[in-house]
Amino acid sequence: CDFLAEDVTKCRFGDVECIKDSMNALIKQYPRGIPGMGLKPIDVVDFKGWEVFKTAPNGRIWLTFKYFNTTNYGFENMTITEVKGFSKDPTATRMEIHGYIPSLIHKGIYAASGRIWFINVNSTGKAMSDLQKVQFTLKLKVILEYRDNKRYLRIDELVPIMEISRWIFSLHEFFAENTDLTIAVNRVINDNWVVFWNELEPTILGLYTSVFTNLISDVFDKVSYDDMFITDQAYA
Ligand SMILES: *[C@@H]1O[C@H](CO)[C@@H](O)[C@H](O)[C@H]1NC(C)=O
Ligand SMILES: *[C@@H]1O[C@H](CO)[C@@H](O)[C@H](O)[C@H]1NC(C)=O
Ligand SMILES: *[C@@H]1O[C@H](CO)[C@@H](O)[C@H](O)[C@H]1NC(C)=O
Repeated sequence: CDFLAEDVTKCRFGDVECIKDSMNALIKQYPRGIPGMGLKPIDVVDFKGWEVFKTAPNGRIWLTFKYFNTTNYGFENMTITEVKGFSKDPTATRMEIHGYIPSLIHKGIYAASGRIWFINVNSTGKAMSDLQKVQFTLKLKVILEYRDNKRYLRIDELVPIMEISRWIFSLHEFFAENTDLTIAVNRVINDNWVVFWNELEPTILGLYTSVFTNLISDVFDKVSYDDMFITDQAYA
């Protein structure tokens, strides 16, 4: 029984060029996913959880954000640029997936409390985040599980690394009664995006650990590792 769609190119274990091309073809052809093989839609990726962001109290801005009901857009424009590992024994070498996303947009609802320039903040509204020119690396550690004499992968650890060229961020209705002040706050955040990125990066990476794990883990669960590759017997 073969769960892979017919037009998904199978590769030999460790043939990283072939694996990279096959992943890219899959992303291009199936942005809406392939349920049978656990591939979720990647054009709209919901994340039901929530994250808390805290900026370090630095006198001028001190905020705690709760960010929830988020949806990601832009994964369908992802290009895989390099793949490492995926050898016959996937636990022997570290698996890595490197890629590029031109624009990773994140929409959600925020609730913020704290202080900006001696003004107390207690607001909630829509938030939009746009990470531009995202260069990412996913480092995967996997565990092998056996079902029906086939090997399946389970993600033991997924560590994302992200580099971006710019972060555009907007918080609507930050000061419900004062549009000018809302615009001013958004401008301060966007003009100082590097500072905010550096402070919030660990939390943001935590969020993307969940998002990427969620995208990959069902494929690993549905399609056995052996079925993803051309088996030696077929070539014997
Ligand atoms: C978040 O999503 C849940 C379920 O979709 C919904 O019930 C809730 O109203 C949403 N919250 C906000 C603030 O939009
Ligand atoms: C993905 O690429 C298409 C075609 O270039 C573009 O129209 C679309 O806006 C992109 N999506 C995102 C979220 O950037
Ligand atoms: C913040 O706003 C919410 C809802 O408007 C309100 O219930 C809460 O008491 C406010 N908190 C503070 C500290 O003012």
